[in-house]
Amino acid sequence: MNEHDSERIAGILAERGYVAASEPEDADLILINTCSVREKADQKAFSYLGRLRELKAKNPLLKIALCGCTAQLMGKKIFQRAPYVDLVFGTQNIDRLGFLLDEISQKQERLVEIVQDREGPSSSGRRVRAHSNKTLITIMEGCDNFCSYCVVPYTRGRERSRGAEEIVAEVAELARDGVYEVTLLGQNVNSYGGANGVNFPDLLSRINSVDGLKRIRFVTSHPKDFSQELISAIRDLDKVCEHIHLPVQSGSDQVLAAMNRRYTANDYLEIVSSLRQAIPDVSLTTDIIVGFPGETESDFQATLDLVKRVKFDVIFSFIYSPRPGIKAVEFGENIPRDVALERFDRLLSLQDTVRADKMVKDVGEIYEVLVEGVSKSDPSRLSGRTRTNKLVHFTGPDKLIGQFISVRIYETLAHSMLGELTDN
Ligand code: 5AD
Ligand code: SF4
Repeated sequence: MNEHDSERIAGILAERGYVAASEPEDADLILINTCSVREKADQKAFSYLGRLRELKAKNPLLKIALCGCTAQLMGKKIFQRAPYVDLVFGTQNIDRLGFLLDEISQKQERLVEIVQDREGPSSSGRRVRAHSNKTLITIMEGCDNFCSYCVVPYTRGRERSRGAEEIVAEVAELARDGVYEVTLLGQNVNSYGGANGVNFPDLLSRINSVDGLKRIRFVTSHPKDFSQELISAIRDLDKVCEHIHLPVQSGSDQVLAAMNRRYTANDYLEIVSSLRQAIPDVSLTTDIIVGFPGETESDFQATLDLVKRVKFDVIFSFIYSPRPGIKAVEFGENIPRDVALERFDRLLSLQDTVRADKMVKDVGEIYEVLVEGVSKSDPSRLSGRTRTNKLVHFTGPDKLIGQFISVRIYETLAHSMLGELTDN
């Protein structure tokens, strides 16, 4: 969602004639888009901000703005930590950026603008896309689930969905502009509810009919709202890709209850089994938190057991981080840092084994790849993604960028695969 917000911000700035500076030293405006889901992200933003103090001293005309979730939570308190910031605006004020920039330059004073719970999510507006052939689209925003570890309901406000017609029209326009792949965004896309009773599977089906579009992805799904109807839609709609990011967070029913996730490990396993029955080659990724308050060794073993059973393609694992305002900070029973770190390492090494076992099976397979550009790890290669969202590097001419090609895998690496172009 932050990436998408950054594309919208870049769009507003481009419309006003801004161009990207190559170095912070050359910039007239530096805008920091923050995340506050874990403490480390907050700290990163503040340490970057700290480095800008000197730049601002050298160039008083430089404007510094802070937006995103940390800005939403802290508001004018940001000025106490960094008095040289000119503008702070919240997650629901992006479309006001042009006006806000005019205000700070005309009035020459610092400004804060934060709203809570505006009506309906903001529409995308013009944006500068990071890729020409794929992009992100918000379909709903905010969250009413209040998982006890999560700050998002406080930073993004209550759940609200955009109208289906508006979303489909936006996708159609993007497809006419050369976009092949859209990722539908929301804190909990499965609980999407547009006007006239349009639910998430209905929305997928409408987007599936957009001419020119080739791939549809979506994040993030919540297991408690993952219906059979949705599984059938993913199976039947040809453009919906075979990759589901389904955060499980823990394999222990006690921890899941304390997290307020409203499903059990068994419920989760049942969804996985239905998904695999309907779509045998589906790729599954997840998020897991270790060291949640009160997590015992046997709770953690239950997580390891679930990981062994599901065999995820990728796990994003996090050490629990207390955040301001969340319920879990009232629980006490904090897990010592060294215990949490040791569990984190055990989870990573288990996943390494699972992944290595799974990836061996990819060697020799042929995949459809949407070529995204020159490989970041090796400029002599191109890279792109399979429908299951796996990264593939291969050698080929630059004219393939933006095309669908067919690649045979000959080697698998830790986070990507190497392949060669096939003749067809
Ligand atoms: N501590 C650690 N991880 C967290 N996440 C969300 N809040 C916290 C927290 N307080 C993780 C969850 C979520 C992902 C985006 O970040 O796993 O799915
Ligand atoms: Fe946070 Fe996701 Fe839970 Fe909402 S569903 S509170 S965004 S973890």
